[in-house]
Amino acid sequence: APIRVPDLRECELAVDASVTGPPMTLTLNCCLPIPPQSPINFSFSQYNSEPRVRQAAHKVSEDYIAKYTRAYELMKALPDDDPRSFYTQADIHCAFCNFAYMQAGNSSVALQVHFSWLFLPWHRWYLYWHERILQSLLGDPTFSLVFWNWDDQRDGGNVMPDMFVRNGTALYDENRNQNNLPPAVVRLRPNSTGNDTAIVNQNLNDMYLDVVTAITAELFMGGAYRTGTDLTNSTVLDAPLGGLLENGVHNGVHVWTGDPNLPLIQDMGTFTTAARDPIFFAHHSNVDRLWDKWKYDMPDGPRTDHNDSDFLDAEFYFYDETATLVKVTVRDSLDNSKLGVSYPTMDTDELWINYNP
Ligand code: C2O
Repeated sequence: APIRVPDLRECELAVDASVTGPPMTLTLNCCLPIPPQSPINFSFSQYNSEPRVRQAAHKVSEDYIAKYTRAYELMKALPDDDPRSFYTQADIHCAFCNFAYMQAGNSSVALQVHFSWLFLPWHRWYLYWHERILQSLLGDPTFSLVFWNWDDQRDGGNVMPDMFVRNGTALYDENRNQNNLPPAVVRLRPNSTGNDTAIVNQNLNDMYLDVVTAITAELFMGGAYRTGTDLTNSTVLDAPLGGLLENGVHNGVHVWTGDPNLPLIQDMGTFTTAARDPIFFAHHSNVDRLWDKWKYDMPDGPRTDHNDSDFLDAEFYFYDETATLVKVTVRDSLDNSKLGVSYPTMDTDELWINYNP
């Protein structure tokens, strides 16, 4: 059976543990607020979106950066218990990634939206609602997230985008690896070594492996996760159902960004705190862009998502811009154009698409 939405009244402390450093476990409360109004079902007609093109973070204008910063200032100014606040937005990630809720109809197995075919759809919806809230706070329905173009190895995308490293702004986060601030070149695999040229080549190789060679939905998106599938003991180092994109370059950028001097590589290096860094949403916009790239633009032609009904009918909860809880399905996430989202053509994609290892 597909994953159904959990009962939000039944919440447990979330658990996070180090997987790379010395053993350390953290429990924390990221239980989500329960709005007074009843949850509603998503429909395209009710949530009609302005078409918008998410731009690369390293290419946007100073005006855009000012607006983006303002949007996060407004979100961060909301009280923590407001479902639209930056605080609660990050807790949504913590809650569904660190076992705060049990699967509906299966109270012995915790819900996990990573490490499986749920990963890409869940994060696409997460960005969608996060972006709608920012739009509504700004009063600008055309506002869109930017993407961190870390796969670009030629035109300046492969460093931490300047807009996120301006100390003291709402887009800044001090819990990052201070050795990886610009001009450090991103390492898409934490273990790549050597000079910048070597890292760039390794990055192209990793992109080629994780996207171009991932010809099936199983390989790219990850394996089946249904009611009863138990990933409680999986970690980023041992995620047998995780797809290549998630387990590879996506995890790589998380670990590269977080602070290695903190026990769980916070903020970006662990699920509980990853979305406390505004760069998270730009990172995931690129992951989302690469899903479309994989689907529509590979040299061997279009590729297909899973079409198992346990995939299509899986359900999640998110808050909309009025703080109402909305139930969405994986099925409704699969076509970005229906959500109003698109990405520009980046000719630097050709560098990794045509990379010959
Ligand atoms: Cu929910 Cu990039 O992790």
